[in-house]
Order: sequence, then structure tokens, then C-alpha cells
Amino acid sequence: MSRWPSAVEIGEVGPRDGLQNEATVPVGDRIRLIDALSATGLRRIEAVSFVSPKAIPPMAGAAEVMAGITRRPGVVYRALVPNVKGAELALAAGVDEIEVVVSASETHNRRNVRRSVDESITAAAELTALAHAAGTPVEAITSTAFGCPYEGDVPEARVAGVAARLRDGGADRLSFGDTTGMATPARVHTLLDALGDVGITAADISLHFHNTRGTGLANVVTALERGVTRFDASIGGLGGCPYAPGATGNIVTEDLVHMLDDMGIATGVDLPALIDCAHLAQDIVGRELPGQVIRAGPRSATVEVGA
Ligand code: COA
Ligand code: ZN
Repeated sequence: MSRWPSAVEIGEVGPRDGLQNEATVPVGDRIRLIDALSATGLRRIEAVSFVSPKAIPPMAGAAEVMAGITRRPGVVYRALVPNVKGAELALAAGVDEIEVVVSASETHNRRNVRRSVDESITAAAELTALAHAAGTPVEAITSTAFGCPYEGDVPEARVAGVAARLRDGGADRLSFGDTTGMATPARVHTLLDALGDVGITAADISLHFHNTRGTGLANVVTALERGVTRFDASIGGLGGCPYAPGATGNIVTEDLVHMLDDMGIATGVDLPALIDCAHLAQDIVGRELPGQVIRAGPRSATVEVGA
């Protein structure tokens, strides 16, 4: 048996987690980016969030974005929501999957959604029932799963407890957000151990790393060796978190695919097409993004002698 899974599913989050941290990007550009991403072989795209436009101005216009994209068959277009109202709007806009986010840390949850963790877990169960009645699956994201910018380390047992309650509330999938890039390979191991204690296995989960402290791909490799097969990433490394001071972007989609390709792990994603998308993302936000393969080129790219 190989030491790594044979295939990995990548969830692209640039159009939401990335663009929510930028100066407002026109709806047309958001649509252009999503449509370009859906042509690369990516099968899950976090396209928008249905949140208060006062809280996150760049995510205003989510319904217009959903109405404007060209829905590619086989691609799951997802929306993040913080509450029941967000889920209602997401269902009305015809999203394929809802992601509900609850922080494991009380302070971050209150800052992010102005509710206690308990209140958010209750709302998650309520909106999950609503989504299921409409035939729409729900992924529950436990954020600050590797630490909180306000409280510091969050006990793994607490993270596992929140996730277990979200699972018991009906969530179809579970994800864990390293909101502020506090994960390291050691903490990937301890969290997976704690999840095992509540019956959540590596095969059940998706991991969402930010590369704030440069450990993102190391965390992925550690998780792969534990059997995790689903990871979020953002094109070019777009991103951050408006309620997490100093947070930078997610791990970079094209850098992740580049690494997995050479490890013999199938992603179904076309690397050159993804690199084109990273250039498009840079054009849209008008600055250089942190992705590295976009600058160096794939490892197979050679330089002509004398050049
Ligand atoms: N989408 C759009 N508007 C929403 C909404 C949603 N999901 N939820 C509430 N609103 C609107 C209400 O209708 C109300 O509008 P009004 O002022 O025109 O009447 C206003 O927002 C306040 O509603 P309230 O329920 O009191 O919300 P709040 O002010 O306590 O804020 C949240 C709570 C959850 C809506 C807000 O904090 C939020 O959207 N947070 C998202 C943060 C985020 O996306 N973080 C990054 C991702 S992890
Ligand atoms: Zn994130």
C-alpha cells in the first residue's frame, strides 16, 4: 500500500475566502474567475457567502454571482453561511451545497457572527434541516480548529466536541478551518487523534489550511499520511480572514496540485489551466499573489542553456 491516498479532492475557496478580504471586486470579475476555475477540472468551488453585507462588504451580490455563472455539470458550487437567513438566501439562489461555519473558540465566534458557540450550533442544526428539506447537503466547518487569534490554543477536545455536535445536528460533511494559520504537522496529529476519540475519522473530514506561517503544505502531507483526502485551497493564495488579525491566504491551489501531481496523487485538475487562473486572479485584484509555482513554473519546466 502506498503511503499516501491515490486521489485527493480539492475544494477551491478563492472566490469566497480569498475575495472577501479584497477591496470589493465587481460581480462580473467574480463570475469570470469562478467560470475559469470550473474549467480546470476542479469539482468543488466555494463561490460566495450569504452574510451580512455590512459585516463583509466584498461578498455583497452573492445571488447575482450565482445567477451569472455558467454552471458546469459535475461541479459543486458552494456557499458559506453564518445563520438561518444566509441558508434561506443560499437555497433561493440554487447553490449545490451549504457550508455553515462555527468557531471552536467563543471569542472568535462572537467576533465573527455575534453569537455564542452554542447559539451557532443550534442555528446550524436548524439550517441543516432546512437545507435537507430542499435536498441540499450541508458541510459544517469548525473554524479556529488549530488555534484562535484572541484565545490562543484551543483544546483539541473542544474542537472535537463542537464538530461532534455539528455532526449530530445532521451535517453531511465536516471540515476544520485553520483560520489563522496556527496549524503545524504536530497539531494535525493531535487534532486527528482527538477527532478519533469522538468517532470522526480522517476519511470523514476536509481540512482548510491557511499558509500564514508557511506550514500549509507540510500540514497537508502530514494529513495525507493520516488518510485525509479532502483539502481546501485558494487560487494564487488569495485570502485571509477579516476577523483574524494578520491572517494571510489559504494554501495555494496551483502549488498544491503541483505537489500532488508529482506525488502521484490524482486531483483531476489541469495544472496549466490552473496557472492561467492564478494569473487571472492577480489581474483581478491588481497585485502579485503569494503562489510560488506561478512565478517559478512547474518543476518540469527547463531553462534553455545559454538563456
Ligand atoms: N445575509 C444577509 N444579511 C443578513 C444575514 C445574512 N446571512 N443575516 C443577517 N442579515 C441582515 C439582517 O437582515 C439585518 O439587516 P437590516 O439591518 O437591514 O435589518 C442585519 O443583517 C442584522 O441582522 P442580525 O441578525 O442582527 O445580525 P448581526 O448584526 O448580529 O450580524 C451576522 C450577524 C452573522 C449576520 C454577521 O455577523 C455576519 O454576516 N457575519 C459573517 C462573517 C463572515 O462571513 N466571516 C468570514 C467567514 S468565516
Ligand atoms: Zn479560511
